[in-house]
Amino acid sequence: MARKSTAFTEITDLRRLFDVSKPFLNRVIERQPKQFLKAVDGVSFDIKKGETFALVGESGSGKSTVARMVVGLLPVTSGEVVIDGISMTKVADHAQRQKMRRRMQMIFQDPYASLNPRWRVSRIIAEPIRAFGLMTDNAAIEARVGELLGLVGLHPADGVKFPHEFSGGQRQRIAIARTLAANAEFIVCDEPTSALDVSVQAQILNLMRDLQKEFGLTYLFISHNLAVVRHMATRIGVMYLGRLVEIADSKTLFSNPRHPYTRMLLDAVPDIGMTGRQRTPVAGEIPNPINPPSGCTFHPRCPLATARCKAEAPKMIDGVACHAVNPN
Ligand SMILES: Nc1ncnc2c1ncn2[C@@H]1O[C@H](COP(=O)(O)OP(=O)(O)OP(=O)(O)O)[C@@H](O)[C@H]1O
Ligand code: SF4
Ligand SMILES: [Mg+2]
Repeated sequence: MARKSTAFTEITDLRRLFDVSKPFLNRVIERQPKQFLKAVDGVSFDIKKGETFALVGESGSGKSTVARMVVGLLPVTSGEVVIDGISMTKVADHAQRQKMRRRMQMIFQDPYASLNPRWRVSRIIAEPIRAFGLMTDNAAIEARVGELLGLVGLHPADGVKFPHEFSGGQRQRIAIARTLAANAEFIVCDEPTSALDVSVQAQILNLMRDLQKEFGLTYLFISHNLAVVRHMATRIGVMYLGRLVEIADSKTLFSNPRHPYTRMLLDAVPDIGMTGRQRTPVAGEIPNPINPPSGCTFHPRCPLATARCKAEAPKMIDGVACHAVNPN
């Protein structure tokens, strides 16, 4: 695939299988072959520097699996992840990849699980500074931690407290401060506000946008909630059963959704305002990914499905993978 020189992150044909076979003895007795689940099945997209690329889709569509492969928490089955020209999947130069580890960081849905409960917040935020050798002088590190706490809207004095002494939103601020401590440039956020109250969600999203502007951060932002993504994303990729079905600029996706699945998701978003559509709940459920439908895997739920859809998987053409949109 041709490389676009403006891209900061390039994801090409990413795949991830999970072995979900029964134990060996059961398989032999029941004469069953090994079973694999295609969690991510040929996903390609790129992210430009300073933009927010959002991945949306229902639960189980493969968003977190993509995120974990992009940051290197999960090995890929095949495909490539290139960040700022450095391949994270086929790397010869170990040192370069180590440098990249600092430059990209991940924020999770549950910050409590990712913050060491026995450490004071100042130690949690100082950890990447020490681990990556960004500073060695204790007084300088202390000052930097205070500065970072201020940047995320906390008080420098909060550094002496433990994670459990904070609210969910404040803990997410601490997680954000820790990514900034590493001087991260590319931040992968997996449902960063899904566990928070709506008002707190908005505050965290605003903070993330402000920091993006101030530091030129690039985000891969994952959410099952299109309403959240609308105000964050420059571009949006819609996932269904491990594949991207539509990629578009955020504005275009909301004003002119082309894929039937995107339309279904948008119709289900409450208070979306500008689309002028009535709210309709999402119809049907995601099929079992171990045994996905043939052809276009969306066909059992699609109002436009034809015989061709059942037989042939549509290719991504001009940002949409759908036979009805691309009939040729
Ligand atoms: N370690 C694993 N072993 C087996 N199957 C897995 C594993 N991790 C994920 N899966 C499966 O892969 C598919 C994609 O999961 P993933 O967590 O990436 O979805 P998601 O889009 O992030 O969903 P959610 O919105 O619920 O977070 C699901 O069917 C899931 O059950
Ligand atoms: S390819 Fe067919 S089944 Fe799939 S979304 Fe398009 S019209 Fe619907
Ligand atoms: Mg997930």
